[in-house]
Amino acid sequence: LPLAVLVSGSGSNLQAIIDRIEAGRIDARIKVVLSDKADAHGLVRAAKHGIPTRVLPFGEYPDRAAFDAALLAAVRESGARAVILAGFMRLLGKGFIAAYRDRILNIHPALLPSFPGLRAQEQAIGYGVAVSGATVHFVDEKMDNGPIVIQAAVPALPDDDAKSLGARILALEHRIYPQAVAWLAAGRLAIDGRKTRLAPSGA
Ligand code: GRF
Repeated sequence: LPLAVLVSGSGSNLQAIIDRIEAGRIDARIKVVLSDKADAHGLVRAAKHGIPTRVLPFGEYPDRAAFDAALLAAVRESGARAVILAGFMRLLGKGFIAAYRDRILNIHPALLPSFPGLRAQEQAIGYGVAVSGATVHFVDEKMDNGPIVIQAAVPALPDDDAKSLGARILALEHRIYPQAVAWLAAGRLAIDGRKTRLAPSGA
C-alpha cells in the first residue's frame, strides 16, 4: 500500500513504521513524508531512509483552505493511497478528509474518548487517572473522533508527571501504530458504524 506520512515533530512513530516496513512486516511503501514544520526531525528520519520529503509551512498559505488544498495535492502527487498522521499537529480540512475517506489513520496519546485534543498526557495527569494509553483511529471531520482501530493501556503511577507518563505511552504507540498500519496495508480493516472490524489474516 503506498502511504503518505504526515509529521510535525520528532517522528518516532514514523520511525517505528519505517522499521517495520524494512523488516518486511508491513506490506507498504512510504511514498512521501510531509511536514508543516521545516525543522521537524521526522524529515531527517525519512531522508535517512531515502524517503522523499516535502515541507508545507502553514504560515505561507493565505488561509486554511489553501493549505489543505496544497497538502491534498502533495499527497495525490506522491501516489499515496492512504495517509498516516504521525504527530501531525494540524486538523485536516473537509476536502482532504473527503478525498481519503476511511483511508486516514491517526494516533492519540490517550484512551479516547478521554482527553482528546492537545497535551493529552498532561490532561490525564491533571485528572488523576490510574490508567491511560494510546488510541489508533480512523480520521473523520471531528478531532480525535473516528472509529477506533486499536487501543492499549498503561498504568499511570503515583509519581508520574506528563513527561514520564508520556514516555510510557509513546513506547506503546511504537507497538500499536505499526500493527494498525500493517492491518490497513493487508486490507483487513473495515469500518462498520462506530466500529472497525478486523478480518482474519489470509481471508
Ligand atoms: C505522539 O505522542 C502522538 O500520539 C501524538 O504526537 C506524538 C508524536 O510523536 N499525536 P512522534 O513525532 O511520533 O515522536
